[in-house]
Amino acid sequence: MASFTLTDNQSGKSAEFPVLDSVLGSNVIDISKLHKEFGVYTLDNGLSMTGSCESKITYIDGNKGELLYRGYPIEELAEKKNYVEVIHLILTGELPSQEEYTVFERDMRQKRFPHEGIKKIFNAFPDSAHPMAMMSSAVSALSAFHHRHLDVSSDEEYREMSQRVVAKMPTIAAYTFRHSMGYPLIFPDMDRYFSENFLYMLRAFPTGKTEIKDVEIKCMDAIFTLHAEHEQNASTTTVRGVGSTSAHPYAAIVAGINALWGKAHGGANESVISQLEMIGSVENVDKYIAKAKDSNDEFRLMGFGHRVYKNFDPRAKVLKKLRDELRDELGVNSKLIEIANRIEEIALTDEYFVSRNLYPNIDFYSGTIFEALGIKKSMFTPIFVIGRTVGWVAQLIEQRRDPKAKIVRPRQRYIGPGKRHL
Ligand code: SDX
Repeated sequence: MASFTLTDNQSGKSAEFPVLDSVLGSNVIDISKLHKEFGVYTLDNGLSMTGSCESKITYIDGNKGELLYRGYPIEELAEKKNYVEVIHLILTGELPSQEEYTVFERDMRQKRFPHEGIKKIFNAFPDSAHPMAMMSSAVSALSAFHHRHLDVSSDEEYREMSQRVVAKMPTIAAYTFRHSMGYPLIFPDMDRYFSENFLYMLRAFPTGKTEIKDVEIKCMDAIFTLHAEHEQNASTTTVRGVGSTSAHPYAAIVAGINALWGKAHGGANESVISQLEMIGSVENVDKYIAKAKDSNDEFRLMGFGHRVYKNFDPRAKVLKKLRDELRDELGVNSKLIEIANRIEEIALTDEYFVSRNLYPNIDFYSGTIFEALGIKKSMFTPIFVIGRTVGWVAQLIEQRRDPKAKIVRPRQRYIGPGKRHL
């Protein structure tokens, strides 16, 4: 087995640390005996150079701009498979056969209705509540209605719970939108496919026909697929952290929802549109590019940069293609797109962005597509939650099954006062 030797230059002591092979990407050094050998810890702010677990779900190559779900490239899945097939793939490790799909898809439809008591919680919220605040509260309340899931004993029951929470997320998200608009909450339509049903619950009224174009369903479906999983990102790391304490799955998922809300993470999609609206015209772009480059100015270009991708985010490439296809069919807001295109044109050639490998990420394009679908900004991150829930529950199941899994408990570099007495 390959290994690294570490030598303490002061004491001259050396020790070997095994290198563990990864199937794809960088191998890892097992440093579990570092403190025993040398009495030191590592310090890695943001843990960007530290592996927190072993996983078989997603692989990202940040330099190539590559993303694989269970080995399949995201571009192929977004184009050739629907989101429910991708849910099956991420949860079980394999794409479903036709028979498996029929059973799985029917089962998911039957799980769409949350307990009627969840709807009563919405009556307590003011119309002005942010959909993510309502989403977080409603999903947390699931633990009050499904208390037998508070101590899930078997993998099969955990899988059943996972399908349940993935199936209910669009209904809860739609409830948050309708409540914020003062509209009546709409029941899920069991005769509509997953992504069509979500658009239906956003748009339908108790009377009258609801128009949903095929291209809109295809677009919504691809968006859920593109947002489904992304290895150990901030919200997934949060989910695993809570899951590692043996807390119930809803507690872990709600923690993930709240971590995703941050504008440096999943909340960026809403911030991108706010930023494009604030810039207001192509003529103002240069001024804001200068602000983004000014280290004394906290302004950052929302939708640009990524902790892992130091190339184009492959999901952004799929979304950009989708957005340009939709431009005519759905009348995508061309003014915001013109501003976005100008930002992209400058940022992809400007030394500041090029030298820091700052490329458009998934959030740079999703906002203009959501706008074209008639979805308001405050619903962008709830849609990210719908897509990502399957990734969170798959990672929780994997953590449960991992015999090496431990409670997440990093150490620190203490720089506070030395011991002192009163
Ligand atoms: C998501 O991790 C995931 O997988 C997340 C995600 C997922 O699917 O789960 O992909 C989803 O969260 C996408 C990212 C969405 N966030 C944004 O678009 C917000 C804007 N982006 C930045 O906040 C930032 O790029 C991060 C948070 C995304 C990444 O930050 P890093 O890797 O910690 O980069 P950094 O802060 O170390 O910055 C390196 C340099 C700094 O300049 P210097 O100190 O070297 O002079 O790049 C600069 C930063 O100031 N920089 C930016 C910038 N992002 C980084 N400068 C201007 N605009 C930006 N957007």
